[in-house]
Amino acid sequence: MRIDILTLFPEMFSSLDHSIVGRARKSEKIDVNFHNFRDFATNTQKHVDDMPYGGGQGMLLMPQPIFDTMASFPHENARVLMMDPAGRKFDQAFAEELATEEQIVFLCGHYEGFDERIKTLVTDEVSLGDYVLTGGEVAAAVMIDATVRLIPDVLGKKASHEDDSFSSGLLEYPQYTRPEEFRGLKVPEVLMSGHHENIRKWRLSESLAKTQRLRPDLLEKYELNAEENEILKG
Ligand code: ADE
Repeated sequence: MRIDILTLFPEMFSSLDHSIVGRARKSEKIDVNFHNFRDFATNTQKHVDDMPYGGGQGMLLMPQPIFDTMASFPHENARVLMMDPAGRKFDQAFAEELATEEQIVFLCGHYEGFDERIKTLVTDEVSLGDYVLTGGEVAAAVMIDATVRLIPDVLGKKASHEDDSFSSGLLEYPQYTRPEEFRGLKVPEVLMSGHHENIRKWRLSESLAKTQRLRPDLLEKYELNAEENEILKG
């Protein structure tokens, strides 16, 4: 997968140098390219923003530096994502969709927003969540992280993300590792029983209870099967 990031602050993406995403870059499963659109500003002061027509607070990104940056690299079939708090909310399903793309372009703004004409270059306006960040960089880094880990062979085992919270529509069940008892806190007996069917049932029941407690909104969208219905009623 090729990733292109349009930003005034490439140094804000140092998280992409490390851990799983860093390794995916080293092994060339992803190719990350930065484009500082200030380099494309044509005015002598290298300004990339200006005041909104009609008045109002704040500055807007001008179209010219963004259009010229986009023209400087190939992106024929790319998804072009504009980081925008007013966009579609990013979620696991969207990350799964993006993980199948060959190229993704992330457009990160600062200031109050973008000149509307920039949106003609964009396939998706995407928000990280219902809060306003100082710029799109942190949002793009989160979306890249969530997407890259879903690319085949980026995580060790395929199963590593199939049990994730959100993949199934339920939150993930609690997990334990050694020791069996730590400061008086014990690992549930069933997990050490070796009884696979009982372990499966326990995990399902914990997932359901946790989702009901922390994210009832997820449970509303989830289609319960007969066994799950039984567990929740009981
Ligand atoms: N830029 C500022 N806030 C944002 C958000 N919540 N999501 C994406 N981009 C943003």
